[in-house]
Amino acid sequence: MEPFDIRGVRVVPGALDPAAQAAILDDLRAVAAAAPLFHPETRRGRRMSVAMTSAGRVGWVSDRRGYRYEPRHPSGRPWPPIPDRLMALWSAHAGTPVPPDTCLVNHYGQGARMGLHQDRDEADLDQPVLSLSLGDEALFRVGNVAPGAPTESVWLRSGDVAVLAGAARLVHHGVDRVRHGSSRLLSGGGRINVTMRVALAPGERAS
Ligand code: SIN
Ligand code: FE2
Repeated sequence: MEPFDIRGVRVVPGALDPAAQAAILDDLRAVAAAAPLFHPETRRGRRMSVAMTSAGRVGWVSDRRGYRYEPRHPSGRPWPPIPDRLMALWSAHAGTPVPPDTCLVNHYGQGARMGLHQDRDEADLDQPVLSLSLGDEALFRVGNVAPGAPTESVWLRSGDVAVLAGAARLVHHGVDRVRHGSSRLLSGGGRINVTMRVALAPGERAS
């Protein structure tokens, strides 16, 4: 299938073939071994249904203090580096010379979903967000930058890439549901979504 846009979000179906998906899944198992998945809490103290961890110089965390990027996993250890294969995926699809400094790994087990939100915890909102879907297919909902606008939905399948960039960088988006068992990539079913971003301001980026 050819790449297409949904409300300005670029979707590249089948950007990765099954072998490449499996290789990245192995990379992500190593990430989760170094930085175990956890269920963040919202500011209101609700446990998120999606389990998360990160790779990169900073990782996304949420608790009663709110949403933010932190240089360490809740265990106190630094996050592992972003796997090379994911850095290559960014170079191929993100359309920016700036490398990502964070890679959020979301695991959707049965019944997990993600409410409509904007990604706006990053310092430079001119840099894109690149998302890779692995495993079970997910109904991805996309709205506008302004809240409350009509939305459209698309099924994201294993190996699909979506890029939020330019005028679509701040669109509202979320995952209504995952079709459990629709892919055989993860042996027990489930979905993994990886989102890479440039979180830090230019002055904080030099490694
Ligand atoms: C996210 O918005 O962080 C995740 C989107 C997805 O799971 O496809
Ligand atoms: Fe998001």
